[in-house]
Amino acid sequence: MLSVEEKILEIRSKMTADLESVSSSEGLTRLWGEYLGKSGCVTMLSRELGKAAPADRPALGKAINALRGWAEEQFKAAESAVKQRELEERYLREAVDVTMPGEDLPVGGLNPVTIVRRQLIDVFGGLGFKVYEGPEIEDDYHNFTALNTPMEHPARDKQDTFYINDDLLLRTHTSPGQIRVMESWEPPFKVLVPGRVFRCDDDATHTPMFHQMEGLVIDKNLSLCDLHGLLDTMAKAMFTPDTKTRFRPSYFPFTEPSVEVDVSCCECGGKGCSLCKGTGWIEILGGGVVNRKVIENCGLNPDEWSGLAFGFGLDRISMLKYGVNNIHILFDGDTRILSQFKK
Ligand code: PHE
Repeated sequence: MLSVEEKILEIRSKMTADLESVSSSEGLTRLWGEYLGKSGCVTMLSRELGKAAPADRPALGKAINALRGWAEEQFKAAESAVKQRELEERYLREAVDVTMPGEDLPVGGLNPVTIVRRQLIDVFGGLGFKVYEGPEIEDDYHNFTALNTPMEHPARDKQDTFYINDDLLLRTHTSPGQIRVMESWEPPFKVLVPGRVFRCDDDATHTPMFHQMEGLVIDKNLSLCDLHGLLDTMAKAMFTPDTKTRFRPSYFPFTEPSVEVDVSCCECGGKGCSLCKGTGWIEILGGGVVNRKVIENCGLNPDEWSGLAFGFGLDRISMLKYGVNNIHILFDGDTRILSQFKK
């Protein structure tokens, strides 16, 4: 039978060897249990104290306590060594070579219609226009009646308009935005109304959903000359600085007089080519002086206030600018095509 002193010496040397060879936190935890746990050998030793002769007990108790203190110190030191080694191993395992070339992440681009919409808002914004967006589901009053469109007008036909019920419909143009703004804003003002519009129409240059941008100016003593100045500034900014604009007489129920607006062909500069069908001109929008009846319908006095209005097809302008010949390309969502418009 070993004496307690001998056992203490044995535990010291065995523990020193064990701690030297331990290499992981798990191993260390297990060793801790073997020595200092509830039934660990150091703990068991304290229990044996009861068997010793009463006279020897104080000295033995002191020696066992010293062993326990020493063991705890050793474990603390071993723990920090193991932690440090584990951290170093982890650094090696998870090392990243920051000098390696990175992987390209695909970056999206804007749809040409969005590009054109933003450019137009930018140009007209510089001229003092604010932006208003009206509802896509409109009532008959705002889409037709308030815009002086007679009951028998072909645009009201069920073949041309998506009706939801007798009164509600998908707006066929952004012009109802004019009415909503005049009803609620204090004149004078300049406003742009961009948005989606809907018509029963589907071929290479028409889709049932497309995009328009309405412009409306309400002020005193406005004339067609003011409209020409505005649209000429826009055309030069959107196409090239030497782009020319011309007005041709037209008809819309909500403007009087009404005009179709052409720009000199952006492809041939006006000489005549297949894009402009040999005429040198391309139609890009409709507009005119706001009909007095429309101003009156919105509760303004037409002897005091005058208006200018115009409406673009954003899809049409995108197609012209980017040489797209089929409108469906804009909405099919084929990224191989759309990525070509990335700046
Ligand atoms: N709303 C007309 C259309 O959709 C365009 C337009 C707007 C014409 C404003 C005159 C004034 O064709």
